Amino acid sequence: MGEDVNTISNNISSNNNNTNNKDDDNCETSNENLKPWYQRWDSQRIGFHLKDVNPIIVKYLPELLKTTSTTCNCKQIQHRRIFVPLCGKAIDMAYLASSSSSSSSSLSPSVQLEVVGLEGIRVALEEFIQEHPNLNIKPIITTNNNANDENSTHRSKKLEQFVGDNITLLKGDYFDLLEEEDSSSASIIGRFDYIYDRGSMVAIEPQLRTSYVKILKSLLKPGGKIILVTLERISTSNNIEATKKGPPYSIDENNVREMFSCDEHNNNNDNNDNNDNWIESSITLLEETDQLVLVPEDKLRYPDLDQLLEAVYLIQRKK
Ligand SMILES: C[S@@+](CC[C@H](N)C(=O)[O-])C[C@H]1O[C@@H](n2cnc3c(N)ncnc32)[C@H](O)[C@@H]1O
Repeated sequence: MGEDVNTISNNISSNNNNTNNKDDDNCETSNENLKPWYQRWDSQRIGFHLKDVNPIIVKYLPELLKTTSTTCNCKQIQHRRIFVPLCGKAIDMAYLASSSSSSSSSLSPSVQLEVVGLEGIRVALEEFIQEHPNLNIKPIITTNNNANDENSTHRSKKLEQFVGDNITLLKGDYFDLLEEEDSSSASIIGRFDYIYDRGSMVAIEPQLRTSYVKILKSLLKPGGKIILVTLERISTSNNIEATKKGPPYSIDENNVREMFSCDEHNNNNDNNDNNDNWIESSITLLEETDQLVLVPEDKLRYPDLDQLLEAVYLIQRKK
């Protein structure tokens, strides 16, 4: 089972020195999107990281995987892809990657999940790899030849790739998915059946949110579903400043409904699966809890808020 943890870590570092690799750690400190996160990871200010699997994904995974398709032959193993944007070193990814093969899993045994996590900060991925040696994650050295290989998990010139058992980790700036010439986000990393966004959309500065959502929406297959976990800052004393601070930046239910409703200017006659436009969608608020009540440390962390509502949404792109 796998390589010694230090060897993996060395491999990652040597991959970083690869001259074909345009993304290196200097990029983390010069890239405005990543710089503040580099500093956080460097000084281990990662209060967002949960030490256990998030109970939210355990609770709602069966709902996420539930299929309404009548054509499903449930005896056949179904391979499905789940994207975890801005994944940090979330243990949830190991849970998802291992669920399909684990006998104690709450998953239907006929579903096999392939997890793809994307993160901008190398140390987060290094720590994830070291903490989950059972996933056998190893770096893939990208050459000019396999960067254009249609069978490759992704075809990006900017994203580095680490591949393990039922899991691929991509290192790079999420917004580079928009920027690559002649490529849509989906043509770079493929489309997904599911997306699991916990603490990711709320980590993005509000002025980048439209681009963030545009990429996310383009990555979901028609029929695909998103579990979105947001935070809403509430000050009953009208302390507007406190509600605008971040990260995490406040997102309320109206924001979610606006962002994930159907796209304007869509073409109802267009049944092309490759269309980035959402023609029909549904948005369900599954639950809402006040973190200031549930997590005592949060009361100290956010003294100027009266409530910090964690909300869980199930969003489905129907067409
Ligand atoms: C609040 S954390 C959430 C991490 C994870 N979803 C979890 O539940 O633990 C946000 C993560 O996004 C990463 N990040 C922020 N901006 C990014 C970007 N533009 N591209 C890639 N990763 C980014 C940060 O390094 C950080 O690990």
